[in-house]
Amino acid sequence: MTSIYWYGNEFVPEEEVRISPNDRGYYFGDGIYEVFRVYGGRLFEAEAHYERLRLSAEGLKLALPWGVDGLRRAVEELIERNALSEGTVYLQITRGAAPRNHLFPAGADPVALAYTREVARPVQAMETGISVISLADIRWLHCNYKTLNLLANVLAKQEASERGAADAILHRDGIVTESSASNVAIVKDGVLLTHPADNLILHGVTRAVALHLARAAEISVQERSFTLDELYDADEAFVTGTTVEITPIVSVDGRAVGGGAPGPVTRRLQRDFASAIQLR
Ligand code: PDD
Repeated sequence: MTSIYWYGNEFVPEEEVRISPNDRGYYFGDGIYEVFRVYGGRLFEAEAHYERLRLSAEGLKLALPWGVDGLRRAVEELIERNALSEGTVYLQITRGAAPRNHLFPAGADPVALAYTREVARPVQAMETGISVISLADIRWLHCNYKTLNLLANVLAKQEASERGAADAILHRDGIVTESSASNVAIVKDGVLLTHPADNLILHGVTRAVALHLARAAEISVQERSFTLDELYDADEAFVTGTTVEITPIVSVDGRAVGGGAPGPVTRRLQRDFASAIQLR
């Protein structure tokens, strides 16, 4: 079945999408995006994604075309038109098309595009856990904005793959921030630790859900940064994200974490997460 895209505020087959070579997303990565999860035909935590999109737009001084309400309607219709049951919606907005110039273009309209993908839940990785490597976090200081500028993330993920790992955990001078495309948490002596939601990490929607579930399960939570050594020495570690959900980390830089198997807190949160996505 041809995939239907939302582009130019119309619903068109993928082949009919025409992006200008002058699009600022293409020149500068000058735009923002969201990846939403769809379970059973319904968006998961939609409002948290729209709120982050709004904050990213504000951070980049980008006007959201059609406002959040218009985007919300477009995304809902897109899911319907593609009859999406399990998968993701990708939504991106660039500052528009104009001859290359670093200055914001006068009079160019933002360009919005969205599409859906059928994606299965990562059952295998969630069951066995993943091996990761650590790499220096060389990104800018506004990682809380979900911008198209993902070069440092792309390089990190690629290096992880070339070294046989599933992902790269990023650190600034030994302080763990997040991974190339997910947030990271550890458990030590029954306490769940994760980097505070400041400018150095993306404020993950799944991270917030996991913290909520942890607190509801009376697991002690501390939003404080931890070091790479604390990660090596953790009882448990896991990543959270829209596509990875809650996936255990079982080794870092070739060292087993928590005996090399997913731990009880991670398992509990995975179970509660599975209930949460069915309960909506
Ligand atoms: N990535 N940190 C980074 C750098 C991310 O890119 C993502 C999401 C997350 C997790 O956020 P959330 O739980 O809201 O998905 C954390 C998306 C899925 C991506 O770029 O494909």
